[in-house]
Parts: sequence; structure tokens; C-alpha cells
Amino acid sequence: MSTRPAHANPKDPQRPKTSVLTLAEKHRRGEPITMLTAYDYPTARIVDEAGIDAILVGDSVAMVVLGHANTLSVTMEEMLHHARAVSRGARRALLIGDLPFLSYQARKSDAVKNAGRYLQEAGMDAVKLEGGRAYADTVKAIVRAGIPVQGHVGLTPQSVNALGGFRVQGRTAESARRILDDALALEDAGCFSVVLEGVPHRLAGAITGRLGIPTIGIGAGPETSGQVLVIHDLLGMYEDATPKFAKRYAELGAAMAAAVTAYRGEVESRAFPDMTRTYAIPESEWAAFVAADGIGSRPAKGKAR
Ligand code: KIV
Repeated sequence: MSTRPAHANPKDPQRPKTSVLTLAEKHRRGEPITMLTAYDYPTARIVDEAGIDAILVGDSVAMVVLGHANTLSVTMEEMLHHARAVSRGARRALLIGDLPFLSYQARKSDAVKNAGRYLQEAGMDAVKLEGGRAYADTVKAIVRAGIPVQGHVGLTPQSVNALGGFRVQGRTAESARRILDDALALEDAGCFSVVLEGVPHRLAGAITGRLGIPTIGIGAGPETSGQVLVIHDLLGMYEDATPKFAKRYAELGAAMAAAVTAYRGEVESRAFPDMTRTYAIPESEWAAFVAADGIGSRPAKGKAR
């Protein structure tokens, strides 16, 4: 029998691992929950060490990393590749794998299998899927398999074609009611949390007030239980779309462009590398090499200058 405490963290024994229960406890205490996306090892390390509660390996990777126009083309295999890298970098945060388009919509058995792959093959702790009442049975099947599920309603990017674009949802009484019913159905089906994306802040507040589980908002105002952003938006590294809710906390895209331009200039002017960045060979070894090879007596080929 295990004698480890409930939150024992094999990756970092000094710090407890965040679980869905940790998020529920934070929610009960009325403390905001922090969530960010990450898609690679170094970013996961930084986000984890900054103390963010949950890291989402979002299918937004399709747009902000892979350069697609929307999230529809990213595959389960590609998502697993990114999820493995994130799991190697994060030691404490709750890790959530986003189920990509067509990995759960066709059959419940696909959904359970693909959700399970995130845990078994990529070290994720939970999964997220888009959709409300229509996916309640799918959520139940995944939860029954012992896999925590986060729901996602409002602007659901995998339905961008059905929605007619990336548009704010819930701006009519009827659509607001549908989104509330979807969120309630997801809670009822066993979700541990629901993402509310691109909905009016009053609706997000009303849904948050009705649910017992935490809501995580993106473009949903300040009244949700927590917030999530796409890390490339937060860092100023994605210019193809700039939604007004996405506050830029840094301008890393501009900083990267300046660094690359400076490097190019220094290589072209031969300022880089200077002698402080070179490796030496002992004089005696060099002399032996030159003598054996006759390198010093031959004219140099392809002389650069
Ligand atoms: O894929 C993603 O990044 C998401 C967030 C916007 C919640 O689903």
C-alpha cells in the first residue's frame, strides 16, 4: 500500500502536484484560478515555475505555432507530440490535453481512447473538449474511464465554419440561454471545470454563479472563476489575429526580430564570433597536427578573406 501523501509529486517532492481537487479547493476559497497554454518544453518550464495552476496544451497550437488559419487541421498525433514536450517541462501544474477536431466527435469509443492516450502516452492529467449538451454522453464516458474532463462552450473554435467565423457568442437571449444550458449539462455530466470563450461578461458571471464547478474565461470578462490566455498572445508573439481581450504582457516577437537582425549584422560584419567565444587546442597538439598534415605548407582552399 502506498504511504505517499495525497498530493505527492514524484517530479518535484518539494512542491505538491496540482490536481483537479486543488482547483476545486481554490474555487471554494474564492481564489482566482490561473491557466495558460504551452506547447513545448521551455515554455512549459517557465509557465510551471511561475506558479500557474493549469497548463493547457491547446489545439490553438495549430494557429500560433504551426501557422494554420484555424484549429481544424491539427491531428491527435501532433497534439500528443506537443503534450509530451510540455509534460517533460512541467513539474507541478495540472496538465490538460485539448482533444482536437475529429478525435472525439464521431464515436464515444474514439473519445475515450484518445483521452486515454493523453494520460497514457503524454503525461497529461486531464483533457478538454469543445461542445455542450450534444457531448454530455461523451463527457460521461470519458469521466467513467477515470479521466477528468474540462468542457468548453461559447465561441468554440472547432465549429468556426458553423459559427460563421470567430464571433462572440451569447449576444441574444436565446443564444445566452443555450450556452447556460450547455454549461449546466457539462457540469451534470461530470466536468471538473468549463472554459467560457468569447461570451458577454454578464453572461459569464451568470453562468459562474449557477455552476458549482469553476469556470475559466477567455474573452469572457472578470466574473469567471479563473482566466486562460494563449501564451503567444500574452507574450506578443502572434500577429495574425489580435483579439481585444488578449492583453499583451510582453513584446517578445519584436524582441526576437531585433535579436535576429543584430545577429545577422554581426555575422555579416564578422563581429560575431569574437575570440572570447572560441575553443583552443594545446600548442603542442596543433604543432603535431600541422606537421603530420602539412597543413601550413599548402595553399588554403576556399579562403573566406
Ligand atoms: O486551444 C486553446 O488554446 C483553447 C483556449 C483558447 C481555451 O482552447
